[in-house]
Amino acid sequence: MRSPEPLTAPRSTTNDEKAAVTSGLRRSLESRLSSRVRRVPPSPIRRFFDLATTMDDVISLGIGEPDYVTPPPILNAGAQSLREGNTSYTSNAGMLELRAGVARKLAELYDAPAYDAESEVLITVGVSEAMYLAMQALIDEGDEVLVPQPCFVSYTADVILAGGTVVDIPTYAADNFVLTSAQIEAAITPRTKVLLIGYPCNPTGAVMNRDELSEIARVARKHDLIVISDEIYDRLVYDDHEHVMFASLPGMAERTVHLGGMSKDYAMTGWRIGYAAGPAELLGAMRRIHQYLIMSAPTGGQAAALHALSDPAAEAAVQEMVASYGERRRFLVDGLNEIGLDCFEPKGAFYAFPSVRRTGMDEFSFSEQLLQEERVAVIPGSGFGAGGEGHIRCAYPVEMSKLEVALERMYRFLRRLGV
Ligand SMILES: Cc1ncc(COP(=O)(O)O)c(C=O)c1O
Repeated sequence: MRSPEPLTAPRSTTNDEKAAVTSGLRRSLESRLSSRVRRVPPSPIRRFFDLATTMDDVISLGIGEPDYVTPPPILNAGAQSLREGNTSYTSNAGMLELRAGVARKLAELYDAPAYDAESEVLITVGVSEAMYLAMQALIDEGDEVLVPQPCFVSYTADVILAGGTVVDIPTYAADNFVLTSAQIEAAITPRTKVLLIGYPCNPTGAVMNRDELSEIARVARKHDLIVISDEIYDRLVYDDHEHVMFASLPGMAERTVHLGGMSKDYAMTGWRIGYAAGPAELLGAMRRIHQYLIMSAPTGGQAAALHALSDPAAEAAVQEMVASYGERRRFLVDGLNEIGLDCFEPKGAFYAFPSVRRTGMDEFSFSEQLLQEERVAVIPGSGFGAGGEGHIRCAYPVEMSKLEVALERMYRFLRRLGV
């Protein structure tokens, strides 16, 4: 019998060897990620949030969400429903009463098409999910989606994740960041399938009026485009602007997926409730994906949303919040113009989008230096796409006293730059 091999203690792995194995493994895992996910660009605005959170005494104009807690009547209704034991899944498409409530509210506010709550409305996990579903339902590999820029960062990612190609249509301050029918026509190719619009706009605060939207509708009809219209900021409009629901324009109901939600208008970002409304064929396809992906939107959030859409006290709270955003908008926009940052008049959402061109700096250096030197966090405009160059996004759901200090700090910064 052969004597067993003498046992030798295994040589311990050195730190360098471990690091080499780890980095090799990482590289190999990265190379195995889907090409779709690798095409999604990392968010260019993340860096600013990360930097700002490491610093003290920063006034952040970077966050795109209400500075309110959900109004008490809505919050209590959600909490009460949970306490009553409503903690299970709902129907895949969302509570039927809520779907009916959405259809009713849209009809009341905007003379919307008479959506059938059963087949033409879907409750989603925010507009974020609704947008993803719309793209997944409509886009085949290589289909082109027209996206006016600058725009909310998820639009591009959602198109790419669906295998589509984003066709940028830059919009400019000189035109009030409004999209024109001529721009759309110039961008159309045989692969164009969808036009994605989002007004009031994040990041510019731009809105479009009935005539301008009717022009877009004419082109959509002429070229047989499907339109996805993200109207999440529909209630947050100021001065004399009247929001027009795109699907309510003649001939648009049958080709438009309307997206809306509770996050911004009702200060309900954390409840995660949005909705989609549109033709049954498209909504049915979105629902099919949603039922496998999500099952159903959060039940407590749906109960709160149902209450929000029907309680006059909730409506009064929305009006109060809009009035307060309106005051802060006036203060910030006037202030920015006074200190030397030219700012076009934003009539919707809660963002100002001033130009920093007078400083001679690009928007990234400006934002980084302003944060380092004066501790004010803003977002470089080009992080939201073409047309955002030379601009910064300032979100104004921030206490008035902080807006005042932010303007003083920006003023000091600009004087040092000689503006
Ligand atoms: C234009 C726009 N659409 C959609 C969303 C997503 O909202 P939610 O998923 O909370 O409904 C946001 C959030 O910032 C937004 O600005």
